[in-house]
Amino acid sequence: SSLPLSDRYQRPLRDLRISVTDRCNFRCPYCMPKAVFDHTYRYLPQQDILSFEEIVQVAQAAIGLGVEKLRLTGGEPLLRRKIETLVAQLAQLRTPDGKPIDLALTTNGSLLAKKAQTLKDAGLQRLTVSLDALDEAVFRRMNDREIGLATVFEGLEAARKAGFERIKINMVVQRDVNLDQLKPLLAFCAGEGYLLRIIEFMDVGNANQWALTQVVPSAEICRHLSDDYLLTPLAPNYEGEVAQRWHYQQRQAPYLSGELGLIASVTQAFCQHCSRARLATDGKLYTCLFATTGHDLRPILRATNQHDTTPGERLTNVLAAIWHARTDAYSAQRMAIRAQQATPHSTAHKIEMSYIGG
Ligand code: GTP
Ligand code: 5AD
Ligand code: SF4
Ligand code: SF4
Repeated sequence: SSLPLSDRYQRPLRDLRISVTDRCNFRCPYCMPKAVFDHTYRYLPQQDILSFEEIVQVAQAAIGLGVEKLRLTGGEPLLRRKIETLVAQLAQLRTPDGKPIDLALTTNGSLLAKKAQTLKDAGLQRLTVSLDALDEAVFRRMNDREIGLATVFEGLEAARKAGFERIKINMVVQRDVNLDQLKPLLAFCAGEGYLLRIIEFMDVGNANQWALTQVVPSAEICRHLSDDYLLTPLAPNYEGEVAQRWHYQQRQAPYLSGELGLIASVTQAFCQHCSRARLATDGKLYTCLFATTGHDLRPILRATNQHDTTPGERLTNVLAAIWHARTDAYSAQRMAIRAQQATPHSTAHKIEMSYIGG
């Protein structure tokens, strides 16, 4: 076989993120702002969306080339009908040496109360819930759909009851929007035992009014939290881990402690070890979150049998070729450009996060 596969910068392919729908029931201004994602927005037509069978075929080929982790995203993945059926199919997959795949899902939590147990039963291993605020008004402003915090709390509770452990909570911080929510969220996570990950606001997509002034660098988050917490760095779980792990302990009673993660995607880019590929809802494969073009796998998946290789073999060959040629390092390059005070990277035609997956 062609293993070990690596790209032009010697990075292996380890992680496949799969966007199962480009729709979401939230309208977070940093991701799907109402002004753009209104009733005139053209979502993908049904026939363009990969079927579960097609998704499994891509996952299988990717696993054959080294992928060990699958993450389902969206949009909101729990909006995809019968998502638990896909989960069950993916949970059956094994690495070439027979190991189970790390199978995770990122959700906004609003449909979790309904779905947590089914997902667990289907074989989902890990859950990440996005939660940017603990204050009702701020939370509503952030989802922009009048969805109350209670739905997410019920979802989290249901997930815990269903047996999900070490649930992660993703918080995207924007300075003037929700920096004041950081300490309350950490106190909440400390009390409930959730693993909070604090993410720098990124310039994904074209519509989210990104500004560097709204990015709160992870280093600043650290200093800010140090007023109330003793922070000590933890070693990464694996090379190229996205989050920097920290142990925290409250400086005052009740002295709660736990682990948190800082994701410095803007100020300390982690492209050097980036081993992630992204499969968009319509079957385009992107080798970077900031890629402007994807590789359309649908023609291969939907070709009628006029070749002398199987669709599986063709997929494997195409994926290997795509990864082999990969040179993406957008965030690292942008960081270097900014250091030279030059103009930032053009924002034209970037891919929306709801389509490519968070
Ligand atoms: P686990 O370690 O498997 O739990 O997941 P993870 O650390 O990959 O985290 P997750 O998938 O929850 O990603 C968290 C956030 O980090 C995403 O929502 C993005 O904002 C950011 N992120 C993840 N992967 C990348 C990446 O490849 N590039 C950039 N620039 N940001 C990323
Ligand atoms: N910057 C950083 N993270 C983002 N996400 C979406 N948009 C952005 C952005 N502009 C991530 C968040 C969210 C997940 C679905 O996508 O982590 O939890
Ligand atoms: Fe939906 Fe998540 Fe995007 Fe918010 S960040 S609009 S919840 S996909
Ligand atoms: Fe990977 Fe692109 Fe993110 Fe860099 S910017 S870590 S190459 S997805």
